Parts: sequence; C-alpha cells; structure tokens
Amino acid sequence: MRFTRAAVAAVGIAALLTTAACGSGDDSGGTGSTKVEVFTWWADGGEKAGLDGLVSAFGTACAGQTFENGAVAGGAGANAKSVLASRLQQNTPPDTFQAHAGAELLDYIDAGQVEDISADYDSWGLKKAFPQGLIDNLTVDGKIYSVPANIHRANVVWSNKKVTTAAGITADPKDLNEFFAALDKLKAKGVTPLAVGKDWTQLMLFESVLITDLGPEKFTGLWNGTTPWNDPGVTKGIADFKKLLSYTNKDRDALDWTDAEKQIMDGKAGYQLMGDWEAADLDAKGFKDYAWFTFPGNGTTFQWLADSFVLPKGAKNPEGTKCWLKTVGSAEGQKAFNTKKGSIPARTDASPADYPKYQQAAMADWKSAKPVPSCAHGSACSQGWQGAANSALGAYSTNQDDAALTKALTAAAEQFGKKK
Ligand code: GAL
Repeated sequence: MRFTRAAVAAVGIAALLTTAACGSGDDSGGTGSTKVEVFTWWADGGEKAGLDGLVSAFGTACAGQTFENGAVAGGAGANAKSVLASRLQQNTPPDTFQAHAGAELLDYIDAGQVEDISADYDSWGLKKAFPQGLIDNLTVDGKIYSVPANIHRANVVWSNKKVTTAAGITADPKDLNEFFAALDKLKAKGVTPLAVGKDWTQLMLFESVLITDLGPEKFTGLWNGTTPWNDPGVTKGIADFKKLLSYTNKDRDALDWTDAEKQIMDGKAGYQLMGDWEAADLDAKGFKDYAWFTFPGNGTTFQWLADSFVLPKGAKNPEGTKCWLKTVGSAEGQKAFNTKKGSIPARTDASPADYPKYQQAAMADWKSAKPVPSCAHGSACSQGWQGAANSALGAYSTNQDDAALTKALTAAAEQFGKKK
C-alpha cells in the first residue's frame, strides 16, 4: 500500500535542522541538549525489557548522548497518546516518540508534526535493510518519516498449558467451532475460558473474529473502503464475537491487557487473545507454562503492526534523536530490542537462531503469511477511527446491541475512512 496524501511541506525547519546537524562543535541542534527524551508506553515487563535493550545499544552507539525515559504506562498507548497529543499541540515535543507504521503515522505526518528523514534512510542503508513492502508502507509522497523497530503480530491466542490440559483440551482449535468447544471445556472446569480486558483489547478480539468470518482480503477492505460494515461477514462476526464475550471475565472493562494476562498466569483463565508482546512479557515475568496458536480460522493470516520512531518538529536535540533513530534501524539495535520484546525484527538480515522460540516461529510465519493490518494498533486506521472503534466496542461490552455496534462502526468508517 502506498499513501498518496499530500505531505505537509516543512522545508524551512528541515533545512534548519540539517544545518544544525552538520555544524561543527555543537551536536545539539543549537539548544545545548545532549539528552534524548524517548516517549513510549513501554513502562513494565517485556515492553520495558525491550526498551532497555534498545537503550543499551544506544549507549554503545551514541557516546555523549543520554537517554531520558519519557514512558507513560498503559497498554497500547491508552494514556500515552493523549499526553503526547497535548505536548505536540503545545509545541513541547519529546525528542522522539513511538508511532505505529501505517495510518496512525499518517496522522502525525499530515499534521506536520514530524520531519522527513528520507536522506538519513539513504545514509544509514535502511532502504536495503527493510523489506520493500514495509518501505512502501512507510513512504508518503516519496518521503519517509519514521524508523520501524519491529514487526508485531496481533492475532495470537495465548494459553496456560496446565489449565487447558486439565480441562481435557488436547489440540489447538483450528476454527471457531472447535474454539467454542474448547471454551466449553474450560467453563465446565470453573475457570474463565477467555480472559479479556477493556475496549482496545476487545477490538483486537473482534478484529480476529472478523478475519475469520470475512477472510483476509475482505477484512483489509473494511479499512480501505472496499468492504462495507454491513457486509454479512461482519454481521456473522458480531454474532460470533457476542458468543465469545459470554466466555470472558465480567470485570473485563476495568482491565488492561496485563491484568487479563495475570489471570492466565494465575491459572484462573485458559486463553487470551493478545499481540505477541505477551510472549516477551510472560518470559520477563518468569511464566513458562504457556502455549500459543493463531486465532482459530485465521489460517496463515498475519495481522501485523510495527512500532516506529520519529523525529518530531521542534525536538530539542535532533542530532541525538538521529543517533537514536539510527540505532533503532541498526542490526544491533533491532536484535537488542526484539529478542526482549516478543516482536520480530523489521530488518531482513536477522538470524532466527539469535531469537527465543516464539519469535523463531513468528519469523517463519511472516515469510509465507498473508499480511493484514490492525486498527487497534494503528496500521489499518487513524487515531480518530481507532478511538471511535474503541468506544463502539466499549459500549457493546455493556449493551450487547448488535445494531448499535454496526451503526457506530459504519459511522466511524464514514467519518474517518475517506481521508485518502
Ligand atoms: C501496541 C504496541 C506494542 C505493545 C502493545 C501493548 O500498540 O505496538 O509494542 O506495546 O501496544 O502495550
């Protein structure tokens, strides 16, 4: 996919930054700062472990620069994104921030909040390091604005092996019917069959069901306008999703993904649909009894998302930020980060043998996968659309009103889907 929207011209500031970056004796863009404030939502567990890996690679590659942690806790950036939005509005940006490749990044590009770093891509050799599809995805009107750190997969079900075995489940469910049968076995054992958290985690579950009921092409069409939200596959998806919700914990709307994950670790729940940051988080927390499978009925579809980092307009230390970005894109940086984060490197030159078991499997899957994007994690939809979808799912969790959900999702697509 290639984005076609007009990029916001920023020649003046870009030229200024280039001059500062090339100047001798002052590596701070003229502000005197040698701190690089890195804004993420990676505050704990496997997410923090991944960030720490990147920070140590940065320390080695960028002598004289200091990492400053600007993390705001909350899964999927639930809190971080609003803090970031107000900082950008007040023109007090961090030196760099995390943004999902795809539609979410486009929001920042369109708002003129991030710098074109195409020239750095050339000098850092990144055009050859990343797969062409990803480069195309990151390119807007011929320019590139961010460096991807990874590829994550969203459509994965995690399980507590002891709990599923005790319930008599002997094989991974391959389709929704088998999944419902397994959930019934867990229910009979008195555990929560499927742990889930609040809005965005429910959106992830719903998206996985839609991939099954629509197939990958039509699912992707929901986000590019070629599949209507009143398609019969969506109607079936809502019915299946409603049934799945009946197997989930009642306190779901109050939980973050890590709270739902804790139910798995504590043996109180059997399954959880979550992105593969869960592998790293379970590892970081020392929980070993887990297994995973692709969401039933998704086949070889790999629902991808990528965390990337940008150079915001008005960053205090652009030179330090560039060293951070270069580290993020480097072989060393990607290895230090991804071996701890549960994701696979965006670079194509990584060696699977360096990675934990889960990532080795994901790397193999990615090669032959049918890729589809994620709205919950910004590769498929803008932040406005994502917010509307989260609210629609949050409301559905309480009212279970199918018609209201279809109406809200149709309205969101009409409002945010025609921006191309
Ligand atoms: C995603 C992000 C992942 C992971 C996850 C849970 O949006 O891309 O890296 O952090 O949220 O917080």
